[in-house]
Amino acid sequence: MQIIEKHVGRALVIHFDNPPVNALAVGGGLVQDIERRVARAQTDNSVESIILTGGSSVFSAGADIADFEGAPERIDAIRVLMQTVENSKKPIVAAIGGLCLGGGLELAVAAHYRVASSTAKFAFPEISLGLLPGGGGTQRSPRLAGAAKAIDLMLSGKAISAAEALEIGLIDRVADGDVLDFALAVAATGLAGLARKSGQLPVPADLADAIEEAGHRPRLTDAGQKIIDCVRAIADEDLEAGLKLEADHFGELMLSETSRALRHAFFGRRMVARIPGGTRAGSRPVSRVTVVGGGLMGTGIAIALLNADLAVSVVEPRPDALAKCRAGIDTSLRRDADKGRISSEVSERRLAALSVTQTLDEAVESDLYIEAVFEDMGAKRDVFEALDRVAPPDAILASNTSTLDLDAIAQFTARPASVVGLHFFSPANIMRLLEVVRGAKTAPETLASAMTFAKRIGKTGVVAGVCDGFIGNRVFEEYLRQAWFLLEEGASPQQVDRALEAFGMAMGPCRVMDLAGQDIGWNIRKRRAVEQPGRPYSKVPDLICELGRFGQKTGAGFYQYPDGRTPQIDPLVEDLIVAHSREIHLDRRVIADGEIVERCIFAMINEGAKLVGEGIAYRPVDVDIVYLDGYGFPASRGGPMFYADQIGLSRLLEKMQQFEGGHHGWAWEPAPLILDLAKKNQTFGDLNR
Ligand code: 3HC
Repeated sequence: MQIIEKHVGRALVIHFDNPPVNALAVGGGLVQDIERRVARAQTDNSVESIILTGGSSVFSAGADIADFEGAPERIDAIRVLMQTVENSKKPIVAAIGGLCLGGGLELAVAAHYRVASSTAKFAFPEISLGLLPGGGGTQRSPRLAGAAKAIDLMLSGKAISAAEALEIGLIDRVADGDVLDFALAVAATGLAGLARKSGQLPVPADLADAIEEAGHRPRLTDAGQKIIDCVRAIADEDLEAGLKLEADHFGELMLSETSRALRHAFFGRRMVARIPGGTRAGSRPVSRVTVVGGGLMGTGIAIALLNADLAVSVVEPRPDALAKCRAGIDTSLRRDADKGRISSEVSERRLAALSVTQTLDEAVESDLYIEAVFEDMGAKRDVFEALDRVAPPDAILASNTSTLDLDAIAQFTARPASVVGLHFFSPANIMRLLEVVRGAKTAPETLASAMTFAKRIGKTGVVAGVCDGFIGNRVFEEYLRQAWFLLEEGASPQQVDRALEAFGMAMGPCRVMDLAGQDIGWNIRKRRAVEQPGRPYSKVPDLICELGRFGQKTGAGFYQYPDGRTPQIDPLVEDLIVAHSREIHLDRRVIADGEIVERCIFAMINEGAKLVGEGIAYRPVDVDIVYLDGYGFPASRGGPMFYADQIGLSRLLEKMQQFEGGHHGWAWEPAPLILDLAKKNQTFGDLNR
């Protein structure tokens, strides 16, 4: 972290440099240092104007998010900086190269004139952290760019280009060539008549309309509501009062569980990329990939790869399946172009990067091969033996298996060190999660390459050790086990779904399994009945499957789907469940929604803790990110393990002991890790390093 000061003519250039993203850190003293220098320049007679710059690629990614773990007053240093900048007697130009986000954009807006490189990008991403722009952004940006545009930026968090920022008045000029040279030239020709104090600009004419419109937006969060409140305060023409309201709201949000959860997820997504004891230095670049298997999963994977601008070969022996795969890819890429998400040139270029063949021998040589064939060991064997024969010696060989033993699959090759699991979630081109499965013999370089590849294709890669279900499905099994027990004890499918959806799950378990296909769970339960006879499930979902009700695809499951998509309560299912309870001599009771949530979510936490204890997941945060990015766990709760810390592990244990005395209490054997942490008065968070 450093600041380089340079006098160029009568301009003072203050160049701040805090790699990697120029965060405006209070903790490290950067913010205070910039402020001191701006204040000092006020009395330096050799200085006529000041230029603030963060370099050519990142002006600033905003406040240092780690600072928000301190007391709200810590952020006051940012506000002091903004005030000093705005109140400067000497004109201040922000020279913006590259990214200009959050507090970085607030700094630019507090300056008196803004020039940006043509590649600069502007956004207020605070909302994605459950926050609002807390450095004067809610007061100054509407005065500069109009209330509607500024509110849209703050509520959406979306980034705009330099050209768009210029058009809405957020910046004053787009630089030809080097942004600092351009800013110096502007400063040298004099800023008289150009420099303005944003906070003193008149109330924007569209303020009332914009606030009215914003108030009707669906799903406004607490942060969103507070942003609108702050902008409304502009009408009073008292900047100081508006800034005070903004600071108060920011402090409240910063301490809220939602913002803490979202910040945990922000750092968590980056933490899971770190392999303990490993290094990314040795990873192999991937530019060409062969996908073996052109079914639904293979097609989705191919689309995801083409969207990341990789060259892709799909191998599918069945001509009809191959044609369907090709058509699926075509439709998806062309639809993106039709909807304006990409240009038609990009869509055509991506389609041209695709080749399809019926045999592996015909496929082009690749850096990575991803097997996505049927979940059958024999089928996997055929593919991996063939891959061992044709793939170049330094290629990575990946399996998309979700249930089979990766170590056994690796043994079908003479190079198990090059074999890794890449467990995509369906639809693979949409879902953000990618479980990267580390086999017993997977080389560190192979694992690191797989993680780099995950980032390259825009997925969150989370490493999991080999076990049945890896992280995601193993935890999900315990969640479902409780959901099914609750049905036979007295709850209805709609009550279970409603309770968990009210907790924030994207979809309740009965609806999820109706969507995924009830037959999938049925097959697993049949297998488990043989493998783990001591861990039975409720028979309820089996009884539903026995009626041929596999969910949406058969028009009925726990619910009926007259239009193929919308669930409708089916009295037949309720009768079936009640009859089953009678048959197993269980007196149905009224179950509170709170019990449904606790039993399903605590079962998830307990299994997550077992996975961490066994070393399958590196850290509790790895379980959190799998659940946030792959299973619809509510972002505002930070993942099951973060949520457990909010409840407190001792309280969690107490409740689990209570459940242990109830129906199928055997399922509540506490994870040794929870017992250990509770004894030491520690949290899951303490293990996230
Ligand atoms: N504070 C602290 N650390 C940050 C940070 C920030 N604002 N932004 C990024 N980082 C860190 C990351 O944690 C990561 O650290 P690591 O290498 O130790 O894991 C490193 O910088 C690089 O980040 P990425 O891996 O995300 O790099 P990318 O190149 O993929 O993305 C980025 C760069 C687009 C800047 C992305 O990091 C990002 O979106 N950052 C967050 C921006 C943001 O939310 N800013 C608003 C902050 S809140 C604020 O400003 C409040 C104010 O109104 C008072």
